[in-house]
Amino acid sequence: MSNKGRPDMALTSKGGLPIDQAQATDHFNSPLLRALRFLVSIPVRDLFHFEKHLLFARVFPYTMAGYARLSNTYDLARSCEEKGLEGAFVECGVWRGGMAGVMAYVAEKAGSRRKIWLLDSFEGLPEPTVKDGARAVRYASHKDSGRLAGIGKCVGTLEVVENVLFSVLGLDQRCIVLDKGWFQLTLPKARERIGTIALLRLDADRYESTKVCLENLYDQVISRGYVIIDDYGHWEGCREAVDSFLSDRQIDVRMVETDETGMYFRKP
Ligand SMILES: C[S@@+](CC[C@H](N)C(=O)[O-])C[C@H]1O[C@@H](n2cnc3c(N)ncnc32)[C@H](O)[C@@H]1O
Repeated sequence: MSNKGRPDMALTSKGGLPIDQAQATDHFNSPLLRALRFLVSIPVRDLFHFEKHLLFARVFPYTMAGYARLSNTYDLARSCEEKGLEGAFVECGVWRGGMAGVMAYVAEKAGSRRKIWLLDSFEGLPEPTVKDGARAVRYASHKDSGRLAGIGKCVGTLEVVENVLFSVLGLDQRCIVLDKGWFQLTLPKARERIGTIALLRLDADRYESTKVCLENLYDQVISRGYVIIDDYGHWEGCREAVDSFLSDRQIDVRMVETDETGMYFRKP
């Protein structure tokens, strides 16, 4: 799909549940149902990819993503390593750190010593605004001021993230930067230190959160680098932030759908 015209991904729930049911919990599913769904969604081409299976089994409790999006992030990170693309791997919206662990694991295994930047409030989602739509406002118990204050949803603490990265996966602390705070406050200061970016993964749910990430970081993504938008098919505010950013800048990209929720594109 291309961003010329509105892509045809219908807004859907992250776990494949009806949207109102899906927003009831941070995990979007019962753990058992989620595990079963995860197993049956392994494509035939990956059936014997034991490295992925072992890695994903370890990060499974620390990510909201299903097989398709974990696998997509793994594959794009690998592609960056194989092509020798210069720049950091960045995730904005880390939650409990499982997906970040996949990116960092691929880089460490390749021995590239590339920096992994992980940014989050580590206190959960901020208030939405009306741009996020009625569903997001309901999810935030009808708060819609956009205040940078945690609403108690999607909370992954720094301690949990450090545990998965450094204890569960045993990754090298010297390559990973954890930047805590609201993007609106941290990114203007961090962007220079982040430098060029090979892989930018945005998973911040909100309109304002996604917009501020694109405004601060898109220009630092190298040409032919990857941009992953985790929530494009799920949260209307996120989709609107991406569509308006690309159309205001007259950037034409070929969006590739990962599953009912995620998509990615390569920077022209
Ligand atoms: C859906 S979760 C991320 C899921 C995670 N990437 C995974 O794979 O499981 C969204 C995250 O975005 C963070 N977030 C959203 N808006 C933010 C903002 N403006 N500043 C900092 N963190 C934000 C929340 O704290 C939350 O951890």
